[in-house]
Amino acid sequence: MILPETRLICFSPTLTSLKVGKAIAQGTGAPRHTTLDLTRTAQEDEIVLSSDLLAVIVVPVYGGQVAPTAFVRLQRIRAHGTPAVLVVVYGNRDYDGALRELDGLARMLGFVPVAAATFVGEHSYSTAQWPVAAGRPDNADLEQAAEFGRAVTRKLATVSTLDALPPLEVGNIQRPRQPFLGRFLFIRDLVRLRRSGQPMPQVPTVDPERCTHCGACVRLCPVGAIAPGDELHTDASICIRCCACVKGCPMEARRFDTPFSRMLSTRFPEPKANHTLL
Ligand SMILES: Cc1cc2nc3c(=O)[nH]c(=O)nc-3n(C[C@H](O)[C@H](O)[C@H](O)COP(=O)(O)O)c2cc1C
Ligand code: SF4
Ligand code: SF4
Repeated sequence: MILPETRLICFSPTLTSLKVGKAIAQGTGAPRHTTLDLTRTAQEDEIVLSSDLLAVIVVPVYGGQVAPTAFVRLQRIRAHGTPAVLVVVYGNRDYDGALRELDGLARMLGFVPVAAATFVGEHSYSTAQWPVAAGRPDNADLEQAAEFGRAVTRKLATVSTLDALPPLEVGNIQRPRQPFLGRFLFIRDLVRLRRSGQPMPQVPTVDPERCTHCGACVRLCPVGAIAPGDELHTDASICIRCCACVKGCPMEARRFDTPFSRMLSTRFPEPKANHTLL
């Protein structure tokens, strides 16, 4: 099978999933590339996909699951036997059940998973003081992503119909190395944090001295939690704490100070590897 189009389908508030997805899509070498970016679109229309394109679906992991906003927005898609590459991007802790969840959703929507991968991206809560997978995906990650795209094309070229491929079992993908001590200490930190009764930040803070009211955060927010002209205020009932506004503020006026930054930085210092399944 040689498919004329690769369609990248992604949700990516801080752009790491988008970068990984673009590299995979480019790697497939298809003559035509299109993108369905679900990050900032609030449109409700159904999106219908046929079987003559390859979908590359890339989503970030939130709390060990597919980011809930991505999960909801993906449900607008109706695929008709569309081959799909399933990718979860996570911030160097773990992706837990997210890949299985994406696999279940994709099949329910009418996709046929043909390959899967787990990639590491800079954690949304990474800061200069407490870096968590800072700078990832780096050049080596992106080269790996492009090579994965090439391998998917080679795999599809071996068959003339999708029925000829053995079913993809995402549970067979190699898990990242998880040192026991880091995991144990992270869970201990979590228990202590809960017991301390310390209130968790619900929204980023804004420094009024730095904010120029440029409106970039309004445009970047995937869920409309910042109203135009009222950039010093964030609606906590809507905010998904994705940090798109924090990372995208040109004045560094927005911060999300969470104890998780220190916990993640200290308990998961070892860079994890990306894994692919064909
Ligand atoms: C609310 C939230 C929850 C997260 N949960 C996890 C997690 O369970 N495991 C993990 O390794 N990374 C977690 N992350 C980090 C993101 O998966 C990671 O930074 C990813 O690269 C973000 O993708 P994006 O740049 O496309 O937004 C979480 C991030 C956020 C905002
Ligand atoms: S992006 Fe930063 S400077 Fe611009 S309005 Fe938002 S908080 Fe203010
Ligand atoms: S206001 Fe909340 S949801 Fe919107 S970009 Fe900032 S952190 Fe993300």
